[in-house]
Amino acid sequence: MASLALTPPVFVILAALIEQRAGLHYAPEDRELLADKVSSRALEAGFESLLDYYYFLRYDPAGPAALDALIDALLVHETYFFRDRLPLEVLVEEILVPRVRAGQRLRVWCAACSTGEEPLTLAMMLADRGALEHVRLVASDLSQRVLDRARRGEYNLRSMRALPAGIEGRYLDVVEGRPRVRAELVAAVDWRRVNLVDAAAISEMGRFDAILCRNVLIYFQDDMARRVVDSLAQALAPGAPLLVGTSESLMRFGTALVCEELRGAFFYVRPKESP
Ligand SMILES: C[S@@+](CC[C@H](N)C(=O)[O-])C[C@H]1O[C@@H](n2cnc3c(N)ncnc32)[C@H](O)[C@@H]1O
Repeated sequence: MASLALTPPVFVILAALIEQRAGLHYAPEDRELLADKVSSRALEAGFESLLDYYYFLRYDPAGPAALDALIDALLVHETYFFRDRLPLEVLVEEILVPRVRAGQRLRVWCAACSTGEEPLTLAMMLADRGALEHVRLVASDLSQRVLDRARRGEYNLRSMRALPAGIEGRYLDVVEGRPRVRAELVAAVDWRRVNLVDAAAISEMGRFDAILCRNVLIYFQDDMARRVVDSLAQALAPGAPLLVGTSESLMRFGTALVCEELRGAFFYVRPKESP
């Protein structure tokens, strides 16, 4: 399909609309990339100019739904079971399980869970240590499409590329070449749609004993990432950790969270004396 022209001024207003809605940042060098993705949607909707399509997205009553569908097509959902496993293991073994054994009931939030492999990995790790029933797992994403897939618990073999021995046949079965997570694990997770740029929506989530927000801040500019981290920090109980992706250091933001290393994994902890 031919591409519609995305001129620099239209790129600027369209990229700003997308960033305001979902946090995703497009730099000027990404103009062609964005043009390709937006053009196909605009042409399908019967537009011959991307400026007209922008006005439709911005001002038409049907615009917000079309903008959400466009953003959904722009999101990167790459994830797999046991991805960057060490910090998850340290979280479970050093922080969550000891507290469960001390009689506490905990809440843990995976705040950009994509198709669900990350919260389900946590569920498997907790179940292995007899702690799953004492931990309320909440998992959210902006994309309704990936959440629908997560709720079905059906995966593809790519999701299993880092699966350790002993998981298949216990928590997950491969049926006709399709991995399927056991229903009780999928049901142990409370799946929700939450936009991380929506501070009010985050504050409605309540308090958590740990939050994971891995491999999503990389798509945001520093100001937006700082805002999101500030909102997440408010949702942490005092003393609770935030986990970000291994390439997503928060040190340059000057966050109120304190970076702590535990068994080679890095956590950003809300100070105990914070309000
Ligand atoms: C690369 S995946 C990371 C999945 C998982 N956390 C991991 O590390 O494997 C990034 C996810 O962030 C989600 N995302 C992007 N922008 C978001 C936003 N503003 N609010 C909530 N989720 C968002 C995307 O839909 C996508 O599923």
